[in-house]
Amino acid sequence: MREMKATVFLGGGHITGAMAAGLRLAGYAGEIVVYDRHPEKVRALRRESRVEAARDLKSAMLRAEALRAGMLVIAVRPGSVREMLREVAACGVTPPRLCVSLAAGIPLRNLRAWMGPPVRWARAMPSPVCRIARGLTPVSFERSVTKSERARVRRFFAHVGPVMDLPERQLDAITAVHSPTHGYHALAALTKAAQAAGLDRATALTAAAHALSDGIFYWRESGQSLEELLREAATPGGIAAATMSAMDASGYARVVEKGIRAGVKRARLNARR
Ligand SMILES: NC(=O)c1ccc[n+]([C@@H]2O[C@H](COP(=O)([O-])OP(=O)(O)OC[C@H]3O[C@@H](n4cnc5c(N)ncnc54)[C@H](OP(=O)(O)O)[C@@H]3O)[C@@H](O)[C@H]2O)c1
Repeated sequence: MREMKATVFLGGGHITGAMAAGLRLAGYAGEIVVYDRHPEKVRALRRESRVEAARDLKSAMLRAEALRAGMLVIAVRPGSVREMLREVAACGVTPPRLCVSLAAGIPLRNLRAWMGPPVRWARAMPSPVCRIARGLTPVSFERSVTKSERARVRRFFAHVGPVMDLPERQLDAITAVHSPTHGYHALAALTKAAQAAGLDRATALTAAAHALSDGIFYWRESGQSLEELLREAATPGGIAAATMSAMDASGYARVVEKGIRAGVKRARLNARR
């Protein structure tokens, strides 16, 4: 019955919407309370995912108290976290002991400084693919988070996809890497190149999506190594080999590395808030 405890989300934007939809899709029956300063967003979530809409922060916190909320999830943009926690402290209701921040780049030490013990902090970085219950969620914990609280956090996010424990120092890197935007970005670029090579848009999209999505699905399902699959798909001297070699010579690996470095750097800037 522990999973049936309520979870209170502060912030009802994109990631809360994706989480709530994924949780319901996965058959999660626990109470989900959402507060956002835009009531229309919360009303939409109530319709879509049967969340309980809190009309203001105090009533969200009172619901958390009354429902013995399992955890409080901070789901506002990184620049709004400090202000949100100030408002929580000022509303006069004791927060649940276990709080989870979804904010990219905001370290545990900042969260602890803004809202300290007895609150214990976890960080989670769900992917919006959690909407279809296939989102990978890396998690990190403050040392004070108990074993059973860690298990509760993992169980909660496991409803919407795989969960992996990571040391906090690796969270910025995985945030820059596991975003599904890489897939969308690559799909857009490959589709554009396919159109330039003479395919119509629909055919280009179908071909590019197959190359990326089904190719990676095959790698996952087959258990073969990338090297084996590359050998199978690219005959030496053939078309795929020529394509990859031209991409590599134009700095493909360097471009991807540069992008990831920029993402990590951006996440680290959030730590200075
Ligand atoms: N989107 C993703 O894929 C994703 C994935 C993993 C983690 N995250 C993290 O999740 C957090 C939320 O991201 P998001 O994309 O869901 O952002 P979002 O769509 O902008 O949602 C945040 C919501 O919180 C509201 N809000 C901010 N401060 C508030 C306050 N003091 N009181 C009440 N409501 C407040 C915002 O209103 P205003 O617009 O008026 O500020 C907005 O409606 C971020 O920290 C992000 O790093 C996002």
